Amino acid sequence: WGWALNPCAGGGVGAWTYHYSDQGDYTWEQARNYCQTFFTDLVAIQNQQEIEYLNRSLPYHARYYWIGIRKLGGVWTWVGTRKALTKEAENWALGEPNNRRSNQDCVEIYIQRPQQSGKWNDEPCSRKKKALCYRASCQPFPCSQRGECVETIGSYRCECYPGFHGPECAEVVQCAELEPKGVHMNCSHPYGDFSYNSTCEFRCQEGFERRGAGMLRCLPSQEWSANIPTCTAITCPALSAPAQGEMSCSHLHGDFTFGSTCAFSCQMGFALMGAQSRECTATGTWTGDTTRWCYLRCHRPLADPGIFSSVLVLSFQQFSLIV
Ligand SMILES: *[C@@H]1O[C@H](CO)[C@@H](O)[C@H](O)[C@H]1NC(C)=O
Repeated sequence: WGWALNPCAGGGVGAWTYHYSDQGDYTWEQARNYCQTFFTDLVAIQNQQEIEYLNRSLPYHARYYWIGIRKLGGVWTWVGTRKALTKEAENWALGEPNNRRSNQDCVEIYIQRPQQSGKWNDEPCSRKKKALCYRASCQPFPCSQRGECVETIGSYRCECYPGFHGPECAEVVQCAELEPKGVHMNCSHPYGDFSYNSTCEFRCQEGFERRGAGMLRCLPSQEWSANIPTCTAITCPALSAPAQGEMSCSHLHGDFTFGSTCAFSCQMGFALMGAQSRECTATGTWTGDTTRWCYLRCHRPLADPGIFSSVLVLSFQQFSLIV
């Protein structure tokens, strides 16, 4: 069984606990299996202080201890991360790795050796040594995968990404529920209703235009990225009554806006040229002709059935004007 060593208590180094097999020795493969079964893995030594700490704290063993480095495809590799050993991280004993016997593809650490203590040596993997393991508190998918897991003394702490909180980052930031009026809203909620990263799109019905943002996002600050937009009726150019005439409008959504209708009429004795009524459309234009005025009835087109009747009307109108 292992014997826990806490590097933080000992020297303030590292963030995990170390363990070793104090009963029995193992080949490198068996040692790795042992560490992975009872702890996290064979140690992956990060720095010089860690090496010093291990050398100081572990008992002497004539066959020394296996660590988590081996030659893979001709390259010395940290097995836990599958990263190649960098020059700076190397800690070989003098003259090592020497590959004296063939296939010296595994690495031992000299603990409490009279010379070269704490250094590494390449050894055949089938040799039997103690397993030097570590245990990390952070699990493979830590902090609900919504934060960084930080190893602490014998435990861990989650540093949640923006938008999440709680010891395991399981809780998500809430924004106020949106209740728009007179505007269509379409939301997507990746983490829960009106929560962090929820987005809502806004659309106005035909004949209306949006004032404000088209999309709102729930921010880590619990605020929406903008205010809810509003929809206002599209306006048409203002109309006026023709000379000698009148205009009468009904406005559904506002003066001369989408849905407004205006009717035109002329004073007695005048006739209207152009549309009698016009409507403001969704595109901001009026239906019907622009040209629109009142003309004296006598000025009517010459395409009349008979000249005689035209003359009669004309003389009647002139008569009434004189009177
Ligand atoms: C939140 O949304 C932004 C923008 O789409 C995206 O870049 C980010 O990855 C999202 N964050 C999470 C945690 O889903």
